[in-house]
Formats: sequence, C-alpha cells, structure tokens
Amino acid sequence: MKVVIVGYGSMGHEVESVLLQRGHKVICRVDPAGNGDAKTVSPDLLREAEGVIEFALPDGILENIRIYSETSVPAVIGTTGWDKLRSQAGDIVKQNKSALLWGNNFSLGANLFFDLVSRAAALINSIEEYDIMVNEYHHKRKKDSPSGTALTIAEKILQNLDRKKVIQPETLNRTIRDDELHVGSVRGGSIPGIHRVTLDSDADTIEISHTARNRGGFALGAVRGLEWLSGKTGFFSVDDFIRDILPS
Ligand SMILES: NC(=O)c1ccc[n+]([C@@H]2O[C@H](COP(=O)([O-])OP(=O)(O)OC[C@H]3O[C@@H](n4cnc5c(N)ncnc54)[C@H](O)[C@@H]3O)[C@@H](O)[C@H]2O)c1
Repeated sequence: MKVVIVGYGSMGHEVESVLLQRGHKVICRVDPAGNGDAKTVSPDLLREAEGVIEFALPDGILENIRIYSETSVPAVIGTTGWDKLRSQAGDIVKQNKSALLWGNNFSLGANLFFDLVSRAAALINSIEEYDIMVNEYHHKRKKDSPSGTALTIAEKILQNLDRKKVIQPETLNRTIRDDELHVGSVRGGSIPGIHRVTLDSDADTIEISHTARNRGGFALGAVRGLEWLSGKTGFFSVDDFIRDILPS
C-alpha cells in the first residue's frame, strides 16, 4: 500500500520501518516540526494515498480526520488525548462513509494480554476463593499514574468479575474493601512498562504479566490495523480489530 505518515516523531519513525519491512511504500511524512516532507495534511497530499497512519499530537485532529474521510483514505489513528472528540470524529467518518481505526494502545501483545486478563477474571467469577489485583512498573520520567494501560486492564476486570465494582489506585491507610480492585503503580529506572495481574487464594498465587521491550509492538499493531482496515467502511476501535483477528 502507498501510505502517508502523519506525525514523524518516535512512533512515526517506528511505523515507517514496519511499513517498509511489510512491503508497503511511504509516499509522504507530515510533521509541523519540519522534519518530514510536508508540515500539514491536505487533500492534495493524499491524492495517491491508500492509507494514513497518524501518531501525532491531538491539536487539529478533527480537521485531519475530516480530510482523511472526505478523500476516502483509510486512516489508523494512534494519537492519544482526543477521547472527548471521539463521537464527533465518528460522525465525520459515518457521513463520508469512509474508514477509520483508532486506539490508545495498538500493541498486539498488550491487546492479547487484555484478552487473557478478561478471561482470567471471568474464570474466577464463580471461584470466590481468588482475589485479584493489578500492579504496574514504569520508568521514572512517566507523568501519569496509573498508566492508561493499567486502567484498561482494570476496566476489563470490572467488566468480567461481578464482585469487583471500583478501581482503587490510591495508597490505602485502611484495609481494602472486597469490592475494590487495587491498582498499584511503581516508578523508577528505565522500565518501558510492566503490567502484572495477580490472582491470589489461601493455597496459591497465579500471575499473568506483560513486559514491553520497545515501541515496535505499537507500530506493528498499527500497520496490521491498516492492512485490516483496507476495503472496509466504518468507525472502528482497536478492540474491533483485535476481536476480528483473534479466534473466538
Ligand atoms: N496508540 C498507541 O498504541 C500509541 C503508542 C505510543 C504512542 N502513542 C501516541 O502517539 C503520539 C505520538 O507519540 P510519539 O512518542 O511519537 O511522540 P513524539 O513527540 O516523538 O512525536 C510526535 C510528533 O508529532 C508531531 N506533531 C504534532 N502535532 C502534529 C500534527 N497536528 N500533525 C502532524 N504531526 C504533528 C510532532 O512535531 C512530533 O514530531 C502521542 O499522542 C502518543 O501518546 C500511541
């Protein structure tokens, strides 16, 4: 496919190398910082494009999505921080009968992990002896706690385990309630990201963990997402894509 990359920062560069490895062609890189071939997205620039992959900042994202949609170029949006604009973006895509796939975490491994955690939580729904908790570790420069990925994991557990009702991310100076799911965050060193889910009973402990090694997993998920999106029409989330490629 002939692909335009929007946002040519660390993720843009990762996406470019995965696209080339998988036999695609990068026809243009867009970045306002001047390190690409163009500074803004325009319909003219997309004339030959068969796909767009965007990992940029959310300023002006609706204008970009309007251009992708009006030119009917399938777009994968990895940019985060535009959750409040999601329904407007969906309307633009539906009006134009175009194709867009968005996701806050395109890592195939992380999405497999979400599925494993969902199944584990569903399995202990009827085995009351097991409690469940979440822990995550990240490098000392990370600004948010808990990580967005840890919150997604916690939401999956709440969706699948009736006895947990509330996500509790704080340090507690009291005993934890049975309906609270504790999510702990540790910061230090250079760790790209470790997420661990622990199932614990009086008799034993089961741990499921995901350890990110680099950012290549996000880029691979986005490129595979674009391959999946090609030929479709609609406003899709990464969950739709993953559900479709995983056996049921
Ligand atoms: N969905 C995922 O799986 C996933 C994974 C990693 C990062 N991200 C997100 O991807 C985005 C980029 O991450 P990064 O690590 O590459 O950041 P980065 O800072 O290395 O690069 C961002 C680039 O986008 C450019 N940019 C800013 N506004 C733009 C615009 N309107 N149009 C085009 N380019 C623009 C910047 O000049 C910069 O070069 C962030 O929103 C980040 O949270 C998502």
